[in-house]
Amino acid sequence: MSNLIPENILEDILGRVDIVEIISGYISLKKSGSNFKCNCPFHHEKTPSFMVSTDRQIYHCFGCGESGNVFKFLMRHERMSFPEAVEMLAKKAGVILPKQDNPRIAEAISLNSQLYKLNELAVSFYENNLHTASAAASMEYLKKRGISLESIKEFRLGFAGQSWDNLVNFLRAKNVSLGLIEKAGLILPKDGGGYYDRFRNRIIFPIFDNRDRAIGFGARIMDNSLPKYINSPETPIYVKGRNLFGLNLSKEHIKDLDCAIIVEGYLDFIIPYQEGLKNIVASQGTALTQDQIKLLKRYTNNVVMIYDGDTAGEIATLRSLDMLIEEDLHVLVVPLPAGVDPDSLVRLEGIVSLKNKVEGALSLFDYKLKILKSRHNITEAHGKGKIASQMLSTINKFSNAILRGEYTKRLSEEIKIPEHYILEELNKLKPNTTISAPTVEAAKKPAFEINPAEKLLIKFMLDEKELIERIMQELDPSDFQDARTAKIVSVMHDLFKQGKSFAPSVLMNYLSEDDASQLVCESMFIPELSGQDREKAVTDCIQRIKVQRKKAKREELHLLIRNAQSCGDEEKLNTLIQEFHKLIKKGD
Ligand code: UTP
Ligand code: MN
Repeated sequence: MSNLIPENILEDILGRVDIVEIISGYISLKKSGSNFKCNCPFHHEKTPSFMVSTDRQIYHCFGCGESGNVFKFLMRHERMSFPEAVEMLAKKAGVILPKQDNPRIAEAISLNSQLYKLNELAVSFYENNLHTASAAASMEYLKKRGISLESIKEFRLGFAGQSWDNLVNFLRAKNVSLGLIEKAGLILPKDGGGYYDRFRNRIIFPIFDNRDRAIGFGARIMDNSLPKYINSPETPIYVKGRNLFGLNLSKEHIKDLDCAIIVEGYLDFIIPYQEGLKNIVASQGTALTQDQIKLLKRYTNNVVMIYDGDTAGEIATLRSLDMLIEEDLHVLVVPLPAGVDPDSLVRLEGIVSLKNKVEGALSLFDYKLKILKSRHNITEAHGKGKIASQMLSTINKFSNAILRGEYTKRLSEEIKIPEHYILEELNKLKPNTTISAPTVEAAKKPAFEINPAEKLLIKFMLDEKELIERIMQELDPSDFQDARTAKIVSVMHDLFKQGKSFAPSVLMNYLSEDDASQLVCESMFIPELSGQDREKAVTDCIQRIKVQRKKAKREELHLLIRNAQSCGDEEKLNTLIQEFHKLIKKGD
């Protein structure tokens, strides 16, 4: 990422903005010693382990390991791209960015921001339409559906009129290019030349991302004709399955209540939200995607799925369930009777009825079993086999062995088959399905298990620039056994040789490996040592790394010697043995 924008510009920006001030704009920080802390915005927790350092201009969460500088914070928290984060902070800091060298990137950035602006124009246009005489029927329709005037305003609902060119004419009068309007998916080319509006005679539901930017539209016909909804096509800023409808309005409620209710449709969001059930999001008809789950996980680990009570809804729920478990979310399900959706339930029975259903939601196990029982005959061998295999594929997705054990036991009781047969089947599944979870974990963990001497030495080097010279004389980056510490030290060496700054927040721009930059951040929060203690600690660390280097070298030689022995390569064996003796004799 760093090769696109010159390092000195990044440094300049980092030097002029304050990470504490920027992060405070999104979450409230409390002073804690020389740092600031709060509950981590990237995972759910009750006691704060998210630290922000003014001195170092970095953040680090001791709970989930998320860390970085102010650019990374905006990328993660606000889902900005790196160039977007740079652009925003440059503006704030009054740093003028050089013209993008890479024209493709410059184009992409400016195309996206033009699309957001254009969509915003379209939102206002449709919104205003709804309050004109020509939209009387649509106002009537919304009223009939129980949507209040306040909701119309809050959701910025609109109306696309009858004519084929209302929007295109409006936008052309504002000098927006046809090419851009087409890229936004708002118009379509006519066969004989020219363009026509995509949405006509429909209620408009603007779709916002979690930063309140208009990214696309859903448009509903006001009778029973088909298609019921027309949606924006995919555009550079609207990728289906990447956002959740309504999250911009509900995210704080989801965080506060530590639970998200997931529904399917626009109306299934709007009506319950309007009636006071505010920790809700809509997946817009599809089964949940990995991206949507990741987005949600920033706010909570608990979800309640309420999909329509039809077969499509059931299938979507079942598919989503497995994905939610794989992401380690805790999932409950509210089954609805056929033909009922959250919107119609609230309209018929009131919000209390929906809230009660949420309270009584089924565990994932019970829900899936209930559906499978309705599809297969549980009293007959083949039916049992089908139910068992489908239940097991879900059970197997739990990374927690205790949950797997508990559910296996319950499955055995339900289908009346001794548990050991079920375990036998479960074990058959193991190899293909469990690989991914542990490796992801393993990739995340090491930053906490890293060799303490290496980590401490990095901290000392970052604290005290002068140390680097001494360490360069005594150690080589390759003496660091962990790939991440080795990488950090080698980048520091390079920067030092070039006479450049390697403050932690700057260093991060050179470390693309997430783990390495996480390690820098984490090590910055190790408590300070003073004077003599510190000097002794530095010497100890260097010594330990030397011992470790020697041990590694010895092991390597050992292996080579064994190889040479088994190949009968006398000459090589002699040189290796000599080398081995030299190594043992050497003092350090
Ligand atoms: P539903 O068919 O359940 O519609 O689709 P709904 O939300 O209950 O709509 P109303 O109550 O009849 O007005 C659920 C969601 O699937 C997407 C929409 O996001 C819709 O809200 N969908 C559905 C489409 O995109 N296109 C369609 O033609 C139908
Ligand atoms: Mn509906």
